[in-house]
Order: sequence, then structure tokens, then C-alpha cells
Amino acid sequence: MDMERKKITIPDIKRKKEEGRKITMLTAYDYPSGRLIDEAGMDMILVGDSLAMTVLGYESTVPVTMDEMIHHSKAVKRGVRYALLIGDMPFMSYNINEKETIRNAGRFIKEGGCGAVKLEGGVEMADITKTLVKAGIPVLGHIGLTPQTATQLGGFKVQGKDAKNAQRLLDSALALEKAGCFGIVLECVPDRLAKLITEKSSIPTIGIGAGPYCDGQVLVTNDMIGLFDRFTPKFVKKYADLWPELSEAFRKYREEVEGGKFPTEEHSFTMDEAELKKIKTKRKAK
Ligand code: KIV
Repeated sequence: MDMERKKITIPDIKRKKEEGRKITMLTAYDYPSGRLIDEAGMDMILVGDSLAMTVLGYESTVPVTMDEMIHHSKAVKRGVRYALLIGDMPFMSYNINEKETIRNAGRFIKEGGCGAVKLEGGVEMADITKTLVKAGIPVLGHIGLTPQTATQLGGFKVQGKDAKNAQRLLDSALALEKAGCFGIVLECVPDRLAKLITEKSSIPTIGIGAGPYCDGQVLVTNDMIGLFDRFTPKFVKKYADLWPELSEAFRKYREEVEGGKFPTEEHSFTMDEAELKKIKTKRKAK
């Protein structure tokens, strides 16, 4: 399989939409998750700012810093050979001014080893998207529920349920396409609105809680492997349930060490009896 697999490029992602083939994407935060997901054949891997909650234990995605994102991007990159790696721009890393935005996005490419960046926001992000694309940095958009500004949206709610807000999302998708995004994440929008946006835009839509009609799908890895204990959104399908499994493993290890059941001979190193005797003899001679 490795011999035939090629590194995924942005034209490959766009071609998949044209050919009606689904695009696959998951998040990764470190070397093992990057490597496992890449080896599973994923098209794109996002070093999501969900890192903040899933791995770093913050209450929301807001506090995660550029340095933290770059540190984890580098680790993921060491495990990824084929997938297109995307760095998620953290809150306030692209909202202050053009210079700072280009510098931060550039860090994901130069230091983090990413091939693109993602940023949250609609029409209002069109200009900065244009600037980044002009600077040679590919951009993945993200509209609908945008966790960094969830309080402005009334919390973690489905977006675009009425005609006015649905129109706003469609206009945003088209504005981001015009600005040069190579794709758009649609988070928590009704399935038929996602279908309409997918049909109207020529760039791929990647859904998360946006139903089956998007050109591709993304999930937060720690949600889909059951390694996040705080909550599981309705749109997540759990493909594994690691939290209780790991919890049981750690508890059992402690019990076995305390009870003298681990380690046994199986996990110990032996040495020749004669060699052992030599040491004892030497000690006696002293
Ligand atoms: O940070 C993240 O994991 C994301 C996904 C919701 C796409 O942005």
C-alpha cells in the first residue's frame, strides 16, 4: 500500500469533490495519533485547537497559544507521511492585524510542518483569507458553529436553522470560496443546508455535525475514540471507548503491583546461576 500511496496535495482534495469521492479528515495532537491516523489512510489531518480541551485540559479552545499549537504540530508531523497536515489557528492569532496573522500562519508552515491552516469565521474573514492565500499559505475555512466565538453565537448550538441565518452561512461559504479557501469546514448545521452549500460551492465542504451530504467528514479524534470524558456531542459516533478501558488498565496495574502479581517471571530478566554464584563468592572473599 505504501508503495502506491502518494502525499496528498490540495489539488487532490479538490479533485475528490469533482469526482464525487468522499474526503476523510480527523484531528491529531501528537506523534502516535498522527502516525496511526496517517497509516489508516486519511486524506487530511488537522492539528485542531480542540487540543486545548482534549489534551491540555483547558475549559475551552480559547486559551491555547501559538507556541502550544506549534509544539504539537511538530509532534504530529513526525508521524505523518502522506496526509495533508493542517494547523488550526488559535483564538486571537489571526484577529489582531495582517502582519501578525501572516507571521502566525507562516509558523504553522515553516515550524509546524503543515501544508495549510484553518481559521474560523465567515464573510468577515474573507479579506484576511485573501491576504494569506496571496502570501502562499493555503486556507481551510470554518463556518457554522465556531467554538472560539461560541458565546457570541448563543453557545454550542446548531447554526443556520432559520432562513436568515442559513442565508448568512451560504453567503459566507461563497465569500470564502471567492477569497481563495481550498475548502470549508461546516460545523453543526442542518443536513439540508449543508447539502445546499455543498452544491453551490465549487470547493469541498467538510462536515462535522453537518449530515451526510458534505464532500467530506471530520471528527475530533478523542471524541470518536472515547478519550474525552466531559461530554460527547450528538453528531459523534464512537468507534472505540478508550477512557473506561484505560482507566481499568491503570487501576489493574496498581492493584497488581501492590499485590505482588506484577512483575512475574514473564516480564523479568534472568541470569546464569553460575555467574550469580561468582558474585556471591567474590563478596564472601572480601
Ligand atoms: O479544533 C478542532 O478540532 C476543529 C474541528 C471541530 C474541526 O476545529
